Amino acid sequence: MQKVQKYLKDNQERFLEELFDLLRIPSVSADPAYAKDVQKTAKFIANNLKKAGADNVEICETKGHPIVYADKIVDKNLPTVLVYGHYDVQPADPIELWTSPPFEPVIKKTKIHPKGAIFARGSCDDKGQMFMHVKAFEGMLKAGSLPCNVKFLIEGEEEVGSSNLTPFCKKNKKKLACDVVLVSDTGIISNKQPSITTGLRGLSYVEVEVTGPNRDLHSGLYGGAVANPINILSKMIASLHDKNGKINIPGFYSDVVTVSKAERKEMNKAPFNLNNYKKSIGLKDISGEKGYTTLERNSIRPTLDVNGIWGGYIGEGAKTVLPSQAFAKISMRLVPNQDPDKITKLFAAHFKKIAPDSVKVKVTPHHGGEPAVTPTDTVEYKAAHMAMKKTFKKDPIPQRSGGSIPIVSMFEKVFGVKTVLMGFGLDSDAIHSPNEHYGLFNFYRGIETIPYFFEYYAELKK
Ligand code: BES
Ligand code: MN
Ligand code: MN
Repeated sequence: MQKVQKYLKDNQERFLEELFDLLRIPSVSADPAYAKDVQKTAKFIANNLKKAGADNVEICETKGHPIVYADKIVDKNLPTVLVYGHYDVQPADPIELWTSPPFEPVIKKTKIHPKGAIFARGSCDDKGQMFMHVKAFEGMLKAGSLPCNVKFLIEGEEEVGSSNLTPFCKKNKKKLACDVVLVSDTGIISNKQPSITTGLRGLSYVEVEVTGPNRDLHSGLYGGAVANPINILSKMIASLHDKNGKINIPGFYSDVVTVSKAERKEMNKAPFNLNNYKKSIGLKDISGEKGYTTLERNSIRPTLDVNGIWGGYIGEGAKTVLPSQAFAKISMRLVPNQDPDKITKLFAAHFKKIAPDSVKVKVTPHHGGEPAVTPTDTVEYKAAHMAMKKTFKKDPIPQRSGGSIPIVSMFEKVFGVKTVLMGFGLDSDAIHSPNEHYGLFNFYRGIETIPYFFEYYAELKK
C-alpha cells in the first residue's frame, strides 16, 4: 500500500493535467450539438484506461451515447468490484454567470476550498470523481498489486436518464458480473466530516402544456373574458401544495415508507448549521413540509418542484397579449417505496382533473428513476467506512442524499448486488449550476481512499 500511495502522490500533477484535458471536452449529453464531443470523451477515457493497464477496453455503442467498458481480472478467486461513473455533463448555461469559461478548467481558491478547487463543468459531477477511480486503479496496478478484480462501466447518458444502460446491463450480465458496485457520484458532509451516502431519492419528471384560445389574443379586446393559460397554470401549480407544504395529489403519499423515530433522531445528529445553510444560498428563511427538519426535507421526504415555466411574451419591453399556451417542467423526488410510473400516472390524472373547461391540458412524462437505500451492515459498507476512516482520520457518518442516481436500483435488480456510494463532492460545489467546482483536496483524497477500499474489501471478503 505504501508503494501505491507513493505512486499516487508522485503523480498528482500529471493526474490533474489529465483531468484538465478531460474537462476541456464539452460532453453535454442533452444537446445533440455536442454529440461529437461526447464520442471524443468516451475515446479519451478508453485510452486513459488502456494506458493505466486495463484489459478488454471497449467503446460500446448504444442507441444513444457510448458506454466505456474495461477490466482487469487478476484472479478468478478474488472478489470483483464494478466501478460505475459517468462522463457526460449537464449543459453549462446560463453561461454568462460563469466567472471563467465552463470548459476551460482553472484552479481558484474559495472559502471552503482554501487550497484551491477545479472550476469547470463536470469537475465534480462526475468527470472528476469518476477519474479518481481510473487514477487509483493505475496506482494499484503500476506500483503494487490489485487486491480485487476490477470492471469499469462508464456511461455517457446519466444526466439524461441512462435509458440505454439498462438494456446494456441486461444483455451483458455475464461480462459485468461482480460482487459489488462502487460509485463516486455523491458527496460528503464536509472536508472535516466524511460521510457515506446510504440513500438516493427517485424521480418522476413531467412536462405540462396548458392551451387556451387557438391563437394569441389582444389582451385588451379579450382579457377578462377568456381564460389566460398562464394564469390558469399558475393557479393549478399553486394548488399542488397545501398550507403545510404537503403535496396535494390524491394517493401521492400512500406508498411512502415511514422512517422510524430512532432513525430520524440519528440522522439529525449530522452536523448542520441552519444559519450557514441560509447564508450560503442567500436566503432570509427556509421553507418546506411542516413537521420535518431541513435534513429530513431534503432526503427522506418526497417533493414536487417546478423546474421551468414559460409562455407568452418574454422579449424586450411590453406587449399586451393574452397567450394561447403555457408550459412547465415539473419534477417530483420520490422516496422508498414510491414507484415513479405510478406517481407519474397519479400526477397526470390529477392535473387533468383540476383543469377548468376553459383550457386543454397535456402531460408528457420524461425519464424517471427509482429511489434506493443501501444497507450499512454489509462487507462493502464496512470497507468504505474503514477506507474513509483511514484517510480522513475520522469515522464517516451514513447519510441519505436528496439526489438521484436511478441506475443504483437497476444494478440490484439486474446483477443482484449492492452499491457503495462513496462520493467526495460537497453540496457547495455547485453541480448543475454555473461555476461548478471540485476541491483539489477532494480529488486527491478520493484517489488516496479508493485503494484502501479495495484492500479492506478483499480482506473482509476472505
Ligand atoms: N451525481 C448526481 C446525483 C447526486 C449528486 C446524488 C449529489 C447525490 C449527491 C447525478 O449526476 C444527477 O444529477 N442525477 C440527476 C438525476 C438524473 C436522472 C438526471 C438528479 O439527481 O437530478
Ligand atoms: Mn452525477
Ligand atoms: Mn448530475
